[in-house]
Amino acid sequence: MDFKHQVSSSGSLAALQADALLVIVDASAGGNTVDASLDAKLAAPINEAIAHGDFALKAGRALYLHRVAGVKAPRVVVAAAASGTAKAFKTAVANGLAQLKGGGAKHVAVALASAGDLGAAHAQALVAAAGDATYLYRHTKPSAPAASAIAKLTLVCDKAQAKAVQSGLAVGEAIGAGVELARECANRPGNHCTPTFLAEQAKKLAKDHGLKVEVLDRKAVEKLGMGSFLAVAQGSDEPLRFIVARYEGAAKTQAPIVLVGKGITFDTGGISIKPAAEMDEMKYDMGGAASVLGTLRAVAELKPKLNLIGIIPSCENMPSGRAVKPGDVVTSMSGQTIEILNTDAEGRLILCDALTYAERFKPAVVVDIATLTGACVIALGHHNSGLFTADDALAADLLAAGQSALDPAWRMPLDEEYDDALKSNFADMGNVGPRAGGAITAAMFLRRFTAKYRWAHLDIAGTAWKSGAAKGATGRPVPLLTQFVLSQAK
Ligand code: BES
Ligand code: MN
Ligand code: ZN
Repeated sequence: MDFKHQVSSSGSLAALQADALLVIVDASAGGNTVDASLDAKLAAPINEAIAHGDFALKAGRALYLHRVAGVKAPRVVVAAAASGTAKAFKTAVANGLAQLKGGGAKHVAVALASAGDLGAAHAQALVAAAGDATYLYRHTKPSAPAASAIAKLTLVCDKAQAKAVQSGLAVGEAIGAGVELARECANRPGNHCTPTFLAEQAKKLAKDHGLKVEVLDRKAVEKLGMGSFLAVAQGSDEPLRFIVARYEGAAKTQAPIVLVGKGITFDTGGISIKPAAEMDEMKYDMGGAASVLGTLRAVAELKPKLNLIGIIPSCENMPSGRAVKPGDVVTSMSGQTIEILNTDAEGRLILCDALTYAERFKPAVVVDIATLTGACVIALGHHNSGLFTADDALAADLLAAGQSALDPAWRMPLDEEYDDALKSNFADMGNVGPRAGGAITAAMFLRRFTAKYRWAHLDIAGTAWKSGAAKGATGRPVPLLTQFVLSQAK
C-alpha cells in the first residue's frame, strides 16, 4: 500500500481528488453539528443525517454517503472519534475503513473535520489502522477472498503539519511491514513454520535488507553447551535452529541492543502434555521470534544509527521416547543446573541459553520477547503485554514506546521474594513454581541468566494473537519494539 500526505484545508475537501473521502470528526467537542470549518458541501449532508437520527457524533459511529452533491470523491465516510488523540484517530479510521470494505475505492483520502492537532503519531496510527483493515492470511487458504481494493491512502494535513505527518507515515510504513512479516510467520501452521523456515526467513531478510545472519544447528549448539535448549529440542524430529541476525547502523564499537525471541514453532507441552482444546494455537508459540524478525525488518528500513542484534532459539516441544522427562536435570550454558519439573515450561529453558549467549555481544540492553505464560493472560488479558524489569529507566522507555506506538505494556513486579518459588533439592533451580504468580516466576527464572547486562522481559502470551472468530496473529509487539529501538538512537 502506498501512503502519501497532501496539504489542503478541511474547508476545501469537496474538491479533493480521491475514490473515497474519509472524514474524522472529534466527537468530544459535543454538539449536534460538525465543525463549522468543514467544507459546507460535506457538512450539510452530515448535519442533515445527524438531524434525522441517521448518524450521531458518538465514538464508534460511522456513516457512508454515496455521490454527495458537489463533492468530487464519489464515496464519503464520516467516522466519529472519541477524542483528538492518535489512539482515538486510529479507532475512528478503522471504523471508517470498515465502511469501505469490499467496495471499489482504490484511493482513500483521510482528513480531520477540524484543523485539529495532526502529527506524526496520527500518521503512524493511520498506517497501522490501514494494515489491520487490509491484512488477510492466504498462504494456506486459496479460497480466501480477494485482497482489499484499497491501494493508496492520503492523509490530508495543513502546511505546518506536513513534515511531521510525512515522517510519521514513513515510520508507520516500516512498522507496518514488520508487523505484516510477524503476522505472516506466526499464522503459518506448525508444519509450515518450522525452525528451518524461521531461519530461511531470517536469511531472506538479511539478503533483502542488508543484515548479517548466522544460523547454528544442533552440533554448534552442543558445542556451545546449551544443555537447556537442547533438552527441549531433543523430543522432536524437526531440527532445531539458533538464529542470530544483525543490523549494523553504527560503529562496531557501539554496544548493540539485543532482542531475544522465543521460537517454539509448536508447543505440545512435551511429556507434561497440554489438553487438546485450543492446542492448535500453540503454533503461535514463536510469536516472540516473529516479533524479532518483524522489528529487524522495520529497523533495517528506517536505518537508525545504532546496532541491533536479534537472537532466536527455535525448536518444537514434543513428547517422544527421546523427550526430556519431568525431574530430569540439565546444565545450562551458564553452568547453572535446572531440574525440569514441568516440560511445558519450555520457553524459559530455551531463552535462558540464548540470554547467556547474548553476553558475548556486551549489549547496551537485552529485551526478550516470549509467549511465555498462560498466567500472564490471566493477569493482563489481551490488551497489555507484561513487562518485567528491575531497571526503572528501561521500564520507562519501553512503556513510553508502547504508548506512543499504540502497542501497550504494563509493568509487573520482580521482587526478590518471588525467587523462592524456584528452589530445587536436585539442581540450582527448578523450572516452575506454584500456580500463583506464574508469569512472575517465569520472569524470575530468566532473571537468573541476565546479571551481566540491562535486561527486560516482555510476556506476550495475551497479545501476540487473537482467538475465536478473528483468530490470527496481531504482529505485536513489533510496534513497541521498533519505537523503543528508534528511541535509543537519540
Ligand atoms: N507457550 C506456553 C504459554 C501459553 C499458554 C501462552 C497458553 C498462551 C496461552 C508456555 O510454554 C507454557 O506452556 N507455559 C506454562 C507454564 C507452566 C507449566 C508453569 C503455562 O503457562 O501453563
Ligand atoms: Mn509450554
Ligand atoms: Zn510455550
